Amino acid sequence: MLDTTALNQQRNFFDGHSSIWLFGYGSLIWKADFDYLERRSAYIHGWERRFWQGSHDHRGTPEAPGRVATLIRAQGAVCHGMAYRITPDVLAPLDRREKNGYLREKVPLTFVDENGDENGDESGEATEQSEGLIYLASDDNPAFLGEAPLTDIAQQIAHAHGPSGANKEYLLNLATALRELGAEDAHIFALEHQLKLL
Ligand code: BEZ
Repeated sequence: MLDTTALNQQRNFFDGHSSIWLFGYGSLIWKADFDYLERRSAYIHGWERRFWQGSHDHRGTPEAPGRVATLIRAQGAVCHGMAYRITPDVLAPLDRREKNGYLREKVPLTFVDENGDENGDESGEATEQSEGLIYLASDDNPAFLGEAPLTDIAQQIAHAHGPSGANKEYLLNLATALRELGAEDAHIFALEHQLKLL
C-alpha cells in the first residue's frame, strides 16, 4: 500500500503560519476528532465530490476495499464542506490517518456566513475568502478506484467494513451532514438513495 505520510510532511504550503484553514469535504464534515480554534461552513469552486477513492485501511480491507470521498475537477462546480482553523501540529496525525493516497493541496475557500447565506451574493456583502488546505486523492494514486455505475458503488459501500467501521455509515453520515449544511450534492444524494434501496 502507498504511504503518503512523508510526502505530505514536505508539502508545507503554510510554513510560518500560526493557524491554517483545513477544508473537510468527507468524514471531516461530520467527524472532527482533533482540536480546532474555529469552524465555519465553506465551499470550494471547481471541484465535485465523488466516492471514487478506495479505502483499504479505514472503511474496507485490502481484500474488500470500501469507497470514500475524493474530489475531481469540474468547471463551474461548487463543493460544500466544513472549514476548521487548526494549529499546524494537527496535520501530522491527519497525514498518518490519510496515508492511503491523499496529498495535501492548497485551495481557495469561500466562507458561508452565519445565517447560511453564501457571501458575495446580491445583498452586496463582501465575499469572505481564505487560502485553505484539503486532502486530495488524485486519479494517479494506487488506491484510486474511479468511476463505476452508482448501483455498483452502492453495493460495494453496503458490504464493506474496515477498522473505522461500516462503509455505509460513512456515506449516510456524510449525506446527513450535507443536508444539515443545506448543501446540494447530486452524486452523494443519489448514492444514499441507491444504498437505501438495497
Ligand atoms: C475530508 O473530510 O475532507 C477528508 C478526510 C480524509 C481524507 C480526505 C478528505
